[in-house]
Amino acid sequence: MTKSPKGPDFRHKYLPARNEACDYTLVLLHGTGGAETDLLPLADRLFPEAAVISPRGNVSEHGMARFFRRIEPGVFDIEDLIKRTHELADFLLCAARNYKFNQNRLVAVGYSNGANIAASLMLLRPEILRAAVLYRPMVPLCPIKKPNLDGVNVLLCSGKQDEIVAPEEPTRLAEMLHESRATVSIFWSESGHGLATSDIEAAKDWVTAKLNSGML
Ligand code: MLT
Repeated sequence: MTKSPKGPDFRHKYLPARNEACDYTLVLLHGTGGAETDLLPLADRLFPEAAVISPRGNVSEHGMARFFRRIEPGVFDIEDLIKRTHELADFLLCAARNYKFNQNRLVAVGYSNGANIAASLMLLRPEILRAAVLYRPMVPLCPIKKPNLDGVNVLLCSGKQDEIVAPEEPTRLAEMLHESRATVSIFWSESGHGLATSDIEAAKDWVTAKLNSGML
């Protein structure tokens, strides 16, 4: 574990960019019961040149790490979600200063609970993320003020057979992000809540296309 000085603290892992010319940093956000190492292999597949900052969620649900509290599955404690979203945003800014990575080139990769806090980050702190790959997201909250997500690119990867997330959720989230001026794509995989190879390939192709077209 490495500690970031001052500001909100998260147990986390930081890996510098393998290619010095690359100034993107992936923000890895694990699912319920996960840890900061879970998504490292995925980061390696999606964008191996980028640096990585991977925090572990600070909330414990019966010993399972999460990024915010829930009242029951799919029903979120909104007050806690808002507080934890700002803590995560401030942690990322603090980590950028500490590790000297570019805070304007953060790309989130979140799975399930991690995708939900990434979506909440975009809705409440639109300045933080440049892009996001959201695996199995839901609508985390409805912000009072519509954010301006102009220039932000988002890929939602949802499962047609997801046993936890109803299909209306990612569709509604995509609409909310689009109405806030983000550029949004949805990939529907044939699988359930767990990830399939096609989810990884779709995101890899999306990241490559965005980089090649200069949209990232
Ligand atoms: C959540 O609580 O964020 C969602 O229900 C996904 C999950 O973690 O199961």
